[in-house]
Parts: sequence; C-alpha cells; structure tokens
Amino acid sequence: MIGKLNHVAIVVPDLATAATLYSDTLGASISRPIPLPEHGVTTIFVELENTKIELLEPLGDSSPIAKFLADNPTGGMHHLCYEVDDILKARDKLIACGSRVLGDGKPKNGAHGKPVLFLHPKDFCGTLIELEQT
Ligand code: CO
Repeated sequence: MIGKLNHVAIVVPDLATAATLYSDTLGASISRPIPLPEHGVTTIFVELENTKIELLEPLGDSSPIAKFLADNPTGGMHHLCYEVDDILKARDKLIACGSRVLGDGKPKNGAHGKPVLFLHPKDFCGTLIELEQT
C-alpha cells in the first residue's frame, strides 16, 4: 500500500541554524522557509536525490511540535512520510486493521498542497507516520 518515502521530518530549535548546517556543511540544496500557519510550523525542504528532509520549527503559540521540542531541546527526528495512491482507501484499511489516525481522521492539505494524514506512533514501532496522497 505505501509507496515511496516522501520525506523524513526533523524538528529543530532554530531553522536558520539548521538551514546553514544542511546547505553549507552538508552541501545540500534547500528551499526558502515556508510558513504553514494551519500546521503550526515553518518548514525548509532539503532536496536529496531520492527523497526530502523537512526541517520543522514551531510557528505560533499552539504549535503541535512545541512539546516535542520541549522534550528534545536540540531537536530530533519527528516523522516519516510515505506516499499512497489513495489516502481515503489507505485510511479505511488502516482503521479496519486497528490503527489510530490522529485528529478527526479527515485528510488535511500538507506542506506540498496534497492531502495528508498522521498515524499514531504507538501503532507503528514508535514512529509518527504521515501519509501523503501522490
Ligand atoms: Co511531513
């Protein structure tokens, strides 16, 4: 059911520092910072040949990644995003298998303007999973 790894997301305490690390030290090509108020994050994409890294910094007072950063002050890996052809079909199958979909279970528009859903980390080997419709 899952297809390609779309991205790995890393929460960082300071986006500018992380951007410099990825562009200058690691020599990767990166996007400009993109504020996503409806997700409570600002993101920079690191473009790799086979996938992307999403650097995430909290945006606003009720950012969903604020607690993660409080628990992991130097940042850390936050989620993996897998591509699926049909997000509603994938969701229904996962629910039928007993997996928990976060929030109201309705796909929201993600950072790439495509529908996304998040799956409970306790149901997936301790890893928060994002599904993105291709
Ligand atoms: Co993501």
